[in-house]
Amino acid sequence: MLERLELHHVGPAPKLEFDFAPRLNLLTGDNGLGKTFILDVAWWALTRSWAGSPALPHRGQGIRPTISFRYRSKTTTVDSSSEYDFQQQAWTPKRGRPGNPGLVLYARVDGSFSVWDPARNYWKNAPTLGVNAPDRPLAYHFTPSQVWDGLQPDGKVLCNGLIRDWASWQGRNNEPYLQLLKVLEVLSPSDEERIVPGELTRISLEDVRDMPTLRTAYGQEVPVVHASAGVKRIIALAYLLVWTWQEHIQASRLLNQDVTRQIIFLIDEVEAHLHPRWQRTILRSLLSVMEALTGADDVEIQVAAVTHSPLLLASLEPLFDPQRDALWHMQLVNGEVTLEREAWRRRGDANSWLISDVFALGEPRSLEAEQALQRAEDLMRRQDVQRTEFDEVQQKLRESLPDVDPFWVQWRFWARQSGLEK
Ligand SMILES: Nc1ncnc2c1ncn2[C@@H]1O[C@H](COP(=O)(O)OP(=O)(O)OP(=O)(O)O)[C@@H](O)[C@H]1O
Ligand SMILES: [Mg+2]
Repeated sequence: MLERLELHHVGPAPKLEFDFAPRLNLLTGDNGLGKTFILDVAWWALTRSWAGSPALPHRGQGIRPTISFRYRSKTTTVDSSSEYDFQQQAWTPKRGRPGNPGLVLYARVDGSFSVWDPARNYWKNAPTLGVNAPDRPLAYHFTPSQVWDGLQPDGKVLCNGLIRDWASWQGRNNEPYLQLLKVLEVLSPSDEERIVPGELTRISLEDVRDMPTLRTAYGQEVPVVHASAGVKRIIALAYLLVWTWQEHIQASRLLNQDVTRQIIFLIDEVEAHLHPRWQRTILRSLLSVMEALTGADDVEIQVAAVTHSPLLLASLEPLFDPQRDALWHMQLVNGEVTLEREAWRRRGDANSWLISDVFALGEPRSLEAEQALQRAEDLMRRQDVQRTEFDEVQQKLRESLPDVDPFWVQWRFWARQSGLEK
């Protein structure tokens, strides 16, 4: 479990510190402040491989860019620090094999994924003196199309991909298929909208693969490659969870070792493509999915997820436990990017989250409505309001507020008191 990340002279700020909560870490903040970057660095700290481009350090006289981190592995706590080596143009590796943080899965917003498996990516041997090369793949990095079509570098088959594996599991109706059904069920937005596989089909003369399908509410069976963006992201995640777990079990058997009990999810834009109904359930689904998949109730799950969704935060209120969960906020303060842990407070609904410090909107409405309300409130504070001004602002309010808006009561009361309306 990731416990701490401390960055000096790398990324959007001279210094960023992150003390992770043990279960859920939600990261919010304006566009372009470095939320995805934090996930990239967290992934690197846990696995020592970059999922995207490596972190670029700040340059300058006397600057020593450093990434320090701490995580709890199966048996010990790993405390490490890496300084940027400008000569090598790389982050200095620590000698010896890295620690073992458990399974790590990173879902990026473009549909790509990375997986780190302690059985398959954890170096077997501590490198001999002077040789610091791993004897196993550093991690599994999937582009969006590799999730579907497989990962086959240099003629090796590392992964068959969703289409082939799903079809083969379904054809055999074996354990992975039953796990896939379970995971799809847990990740579905509701019982009524459950993601259910249909019959295998073929979609083209040029593609000899049996294609999995999904049953839709409108009675069709849609090939998975034609599924909607939201459904695709979730079924890709479901497939990779089952694939990762299955391969982890196989590899652990081969190595004659226990399966891991620690899983870390890094998820960028967790609500991406999801309808509000689904946004309300996705995080709780993620927290329970490994239990459903492994059938064990002692799996430790840690999630670090980026979100821009006020509804997602409102939906978490009954679930959020300040002892185990944290809400992080990146913002621009006096021209500098800061990262703060927000004091957790229930806000009640999505609108209240929108106007909270976390999203800092003036009003949870259109920009026009916000501006009209602002002007109206300014008028209401004055004594000398002219009729033309009043008419103009009232017109703006009419153009942007619904007839039933509660603000009208306040406005009419004030207008009557001020003699502007009878
Ligand atoms: N590889 C990198 N090396 C150094 N700094 C980076 C790197 N990638 C991103 N950054 C820093 O992070 C900033 C924002 O990037 P990032 O994509 O993380 O934003 P974000 O908060 O995820 O935005 P959005 O909400 O739009 O996705 C960049 O402007 C840059 O300062
Ligand atoms: Mg981002």
